[in-house]
Amino acid sequence: MSNSFSMVAPHSKRPVVPDVIFGTGREAQDAEAKYGFEKVINSTLGVLMDDSGQLAFLPTVMERLHTLPDSELGAYAPIAGLPDYLSAVQDACFRGHKPNAYSEAVATPGGTGAIKHAVWNYTEMGDEILIANWYWAPYKTIAEEHGRRVRTFDYFKGDGMNVDAFKAAASELIAAQERVLIILNTPAHNPTGYSISDGEWQEIMGFLREKAADPSKKIILMVDVAYIDFAGSIDASRDFFKHFGDLPQNLLVLTAFSLSKGYTMYGMRGGAIICLAATQDLAMEFKDVCAYSNRAAWSNGTRAAMRVLADIYKDPALFNKAEEERQVFKAMLDRRNAVFMEEAKKVGLETCPFRDGFFITIPCKDPASVSNALKKENLFAIPLQGGLRFAPCAVSEEKCRVAPAMIKKYV
Ligand SMILES: Cc1ncc(COP(=O)(O)O)c(C=O)c1O
Repeated sequence: MSNSFSMVAPHSKRPVVPDVIFGTGREAQDAEAKYGFEKVINSTLGVLMDDSGQLAFLPTVMERLHTLPDSELGAYAPIAGLPDYLSAVQDACFRGHKPNAYSEAVATPGGTGAIKHAVWNYTEMGDEILIANWYWAPYKTIAEEHGRRVRTFDYFKGDGMNVDAFKAAASELIAAQERVLIILNTPAHNPTGYSISDGEWQEIMGFLREKAADPSKKIILMVDVAYIDFAGSIDASRDFFKHFGDLPQNLLVLTAFSLSKGYTMYGMRGGAIICLAATQDLAMEFKDVCAYSNRAAWSNGTRAAMRVLADIYKDPALFNKAEEERQVFKAMLDRRNAVFMEEAKKVGLETCPFRDGFFITIPCKDPASVSNALKKENLFAIPLQGGLRFAPCAVSEEKCRVAPAMIKKYV
């Protein structure tokens, strides 16, 4: 087909780039079909799998989904989300660690929907959005889809966050733009598994509060907590919310919450955008604009996903069951991560600072070549800009044990 004639509006014309994650995943599946599952390390997808390569689902969540009445499965949900879901999702996000702020929630299809709403409603056309240089690719996709751009800062210095690089980049953007959206994915960052420490949060928020002393500036911090339920204990993983209390009115915190990982409802498209605002008016303004965006983008979210979360948070027995089941998954993931990191240390394989979660990243010069060389040994990992993403979430402990030495050969 000729490329010379196009019907697409100019803003939507962009190069067609194949999806690296799904493409590499397909190659891994082909290898599994050819050589057998045991012979292949398929560490491509960001989903939790059991040791036999099956998606790990929380039984309580799935049982509940299967027994929902038609009216909860097939019906629309209210535009902003079911009211009991909007309360449950805040409980699920904060778990008793909600800081002193006005909060409201709007249901979105996954955390992805929350990010889209933040980008559309809290930045202007042409604005730059600040993210770390190791980032989940859809941040850029979403920004560009909406006529925004991303600016990155160097995430790491030694074994921690490069807070100085963050401050320098944020200062520049705050000087150049009236409003600045910053997206930080923590705890258990994709793709590195890093979690911003308490000391780093203190510095970040001290700095942002200082910047907000200029009343002409509007600073919006979005914390993407997609992996929060796989990052240490429930309390430790939420402790950082304490830094968001008593905000000035021109510093707004948004949270992107997802039911994909923590509740294994990946395809049910459940999530929420939650605000922490200085005033009730700002929280209501948030709710109004995000509900409007729901109407404009997808009308309303998946009722069944909302129903299940709301029911779990109403019934202590269900809640405890789901928590125990997740604990088993988390222990499996923690073991895989520990084994990978132990072996990496033994063979001298350098990784980005790692704390928790689904992924570990190995910085390297030519990730595409490293990934291609490893494919020949039936190890499939995702080449990123500047590194290779290995996903212990998707492979067994045994495979996590052998992978570091294999990777070390090529980096
Ligand atoms: C960093 C990060 N943020 C957000 C999401 C959102 O996922 P979902 O839209 O399925 O909730 C993901 C999923 O892979 C992710 O890795």
